[in-house]
Amino acid sequence: SKTVTYDFNVTYTTANPDGQFERRVIGINGKWPIPTIEIEKGDRLVVNLVNGLPDVETSLHWHGLFQNGTNAMDGPGKVTQCALAPGQKMTYNFTINQPGTYWYHSHIKGQYPDGIRAPLIVRDPKGPYAKKYDEEVVISLSDWYHDENPPLLAKFLSVGNPTGAEPVPNSALMNETQGMPFHVKPGRTYMVRLVNMAAFAAQYFWIEGHTMRIIEVDGEYTEEAEAEMIYLTAAQRLSFLLTTKNETTKNYAIVGSMDEDLFDQIPDGLNSNVTGHLIYSAARPLPEPAFVDAFEPFDDFTLVPFDGEDLWEEPTYTFALEVMMDNLGDGANYAFFNGITYVPPKVPTLYTALNAGNLSLTPEIYGRDTNPIVFKHHDVVELIINNNDPGKHPFHLHGHTFQLAYRSDVDAGFFNASDESIEFAKKPMRRDTVLVNPGGNVVLRFRADNPGVWLFHCHIEWHIESGLIATFIEAPDVLQKTQTIPEDHLAICKAQNLPVVGNAAA
Ligand code: C2O
Repeated sequence: SKTVTYDFNVTYTTANPDGQFERRVIGINGKWPIPTIEIEKGDRLVVNLVNGLPDVETSLHWHGLFQNGTNAMDGPGKVTQCALAPGQKMTYNFTINQPGTYWYHSHIKGQYPDGIRAPLIVRDPKGPYAKKYDEEVVISLSDWYHDENPPLLAKFLSVGNPTGAEPVPNSALMNETQGMPFHVKPGRTYMVRLVNMAAFAAQYFWIEGHTMRIIEVDGEYTEEAEAEMIYLTAAQRLSFLLTTKNETTKNYAIVGSMDEDLFDQIPDGLNSNVTGHLIYSAARPLPEPAFVDAFEPFDDFTLVPFDGEDLWEEPTYTFALEVMMDNLGDGANYAFFNGITYVPPKVPTLYTALNAGNLSLTPEIYGRDTNPIVFKHHDVVELIINNNDPGKHPFHLHGHTFQLAYRSDVDAGFFNASDESIEFAKKPMRRDTVLVNPGGNVVLRFRADNPGVWLFHCHIEWHIESGLIATFIEAPDVLQKTQTIPEDHLAICKAQNLPVVGNAAA
């Protein structure tokens, strides 16, 4: 294993990814799109981060990486670190033992839709599928707004928007462009890594005339499963094997198509589809952009984990989160888990956990508005999400993958544990982001085996803004004995005069 180092200065630049509007974007080292991080399982990643933005804070989160033993490197501002003010710098430094397809993005409210998002690939030369393909390629899907996030956000969270209608993106993108060429040779197998880095839109994805064989979701290997069409929510990833045809007489469309059911209205000029090309022969014409074919997207709950792990029985901690949207006193629309809309604390929750001594197991000390839930070490947690809202939500947990035990249909209401017709998956797939149906529910299980402070939230960036976040505090007593905050992280808070004390445990 080796150390891979990146020096990242976060800066503004300009871009016109959908070819219709040039605007200011947030890039790195003066460039956009920002770099894809490529590393091998077991390597150490070092990112020296400078906030070169003159007016706003920043931080980086490594979506899907467990940060087991390195909670302080997880990245969300006010959760595991203080955000970097303009001109401040710090280092992320951790080893990566999870293979698979990930991404990284700013974890300051509303910042990644302005461009600070890219794939993070962890290669696995000894993995179970390593010998089954000849080459690999990364395809990112995303959505794009012509307006910058801060003004959109101000409008979204205002009395002028009492129903909480989310801003609709202008365009779907593929590799942050209007669709890219993917040159292939006949009779070969490619591993395609698909990442949805959208602020809002889930996408349907398919390749004309070709079948995809799924082998990974969210960093977890699956048993091979054939799909004609894939549905990826914001923040989900998936890789598949693609075997090319033996002749080169034709080229094919690669299509991404935004799920318009998410949008309150369909604005004029919306570019919901983005088309890339699977190119066998440069001498042949490119196919016309294709429209949605009449097949159903693949259901991720039917996947089986490659390791065949059974459902974890006998939860020791079971709880439910009810999702709701409503108008608070000020007339704007907010999102709630069990009646609480998240408000960030002054001091990062991790720092509170490390310095609270025996009180760290008491949820109240984290403040009601952080929606704190405390687990004991090795709890088997069962989390039920009851979606009391007519929208779809992609929920993400930091620090873990969870088992997909059960997902109801649309409008099934609250999960009913005494309904004997409900069957849990016996060998549930694990992933870190799950779609919950409108008015429906899901049941997830995971083990509290990663001491730390981990956010659980909807990955639609608008719903992060409107407070659909809970804070899971896992075995803080163990955390206190095993982890500390690096000095350069503490220095950021101190320079901002935040009331942060040093390492009680150190
Ligand atoms: Cu992509 Cu809180 O994460």
